[in-house]
Amino acid sequence: MKKNIAVLAGDGIGPEIINEALKVVKAIEKKFNHCFSYTEAIVGASAIDTVGDPYPEETHKVCMEADAVLFGAIGHPKFDNDPTAKVRPEQGLLRMRKQLGLYANIRPVETFASLVHKSPLRKELVEGANFMCIRELTGGIYFGEKGRADNGDTAFDTCTYSRVEIERILKLAYEYAMKRNKKLTIVDKANVLETSRLWRQVGQEMAPKYPEVDTQYMFVDNAAMQIIQWPKNFDVMVTENMFGDILTDEASVITGSMGLLPSASIGLHTSVFEPIHGSYPQAAGKNIANPLATILSAAMMFEYAFALMDEGALIRKAVEASLEQGFVTEDISKENAKSTSEVGDWIVQYIINA
Ligand code: IPM
Ligand code: MG
Repeated sequence: MKKNIAVLAGDGIGPEIINEALKVVKAIEKKFNHCFSYTEAIVGASAIDTVGDPYPEETHKVCMEADAVLFGAIGHPKFDNDPTAKVRPEQGLLRMRKQLGLYANIRPVETFASLVHKSPLRKELVEGANFMCIRELTGGIYFGEKGRADNGDTAFDTCTYSRVEIERILKLAYEYAMKRNKKLTIVDKANVLETSRLWRQVGQEMAPKYPEVDTQYMFVDNAAMQIIQWPKNFDVMVTENMFGDILTDEASVITGSMGLLPSASIGLHTSVFEPIHGSYPQAAGKNIANPLATILSAAMMFEYAFALMDEGALIRKAVEASLEQGFVTEDISKENAKSTSEVGDWIVQYIINA
């Protein structure tokens, strides 16, 4: 199969983890006789430094013309610590999501049997937990009107959702629920927020169309607690942009390391595959970051963007094997920790030998 992959490494550990994911993608390409081309483009703080724009037009063009985007991470402490910065790396990520129309971010939360003992939660609570969080990605408070008043002494961010935006994400969530265990939890704060009440109203209108699906509504504060207390009770969870951002960081901890959670962002144009973790600047250039979330994002790229299921499955098998063998980076095991590139090489070797 011929495919064109846009590669946006970004900042911090981005280039290192993308490098490992690319090695894996190339090993798969060779093994399965595919023909991929790779186009690199700049994004985030590194793009601000070179052209003054975190998502330059040229990068957008590369993404639009690609069959899939493999994305590393963005963010830099020099911007985090400067609340007055006019341009920020994160704006690049948000603009990419908006301009590509990526309204759904799919974040599977899976536990690996060999890592259950690493979870901060008790074994019996997490063993077998497996749910999918679908986060709305191009609306809500992230994209609403924001600004300052009173000479800068008052600030506001507005949260807006339209029926169309809610319907399309709920439709997708119902479709996933139908393919999985037919349980959908719609997370909101309908006891306080008007946008949440619209979400709940639209949900109640749509639910009868999916009679086989058990639809539940849950307030976000309660959901934050239940994810930790009974993670096995969830199947598909859908929620608005910021709630989804927060809940998926929380959920990632269940699996034993945040460095393991991949994601797929899908919508109107080219899909983007990226780890849920950030740019981890403290680790940049040290060859210590966990590349598995990015490698698993590449597996999602094969499955979601190219419908190449065997290729995705082989990557997953290789990742599971590396975890079972304890061939892992320091976030998972301080003892005998391997480097980013050693883990990547191990996965590549597994694929070659499979
Ligand atoms: C994520 C990240 C981003 C977000 C940041 C980097 C803007 O936390 O993808 O979860 O909040 O969406
Ligand atoms: Mg986040």
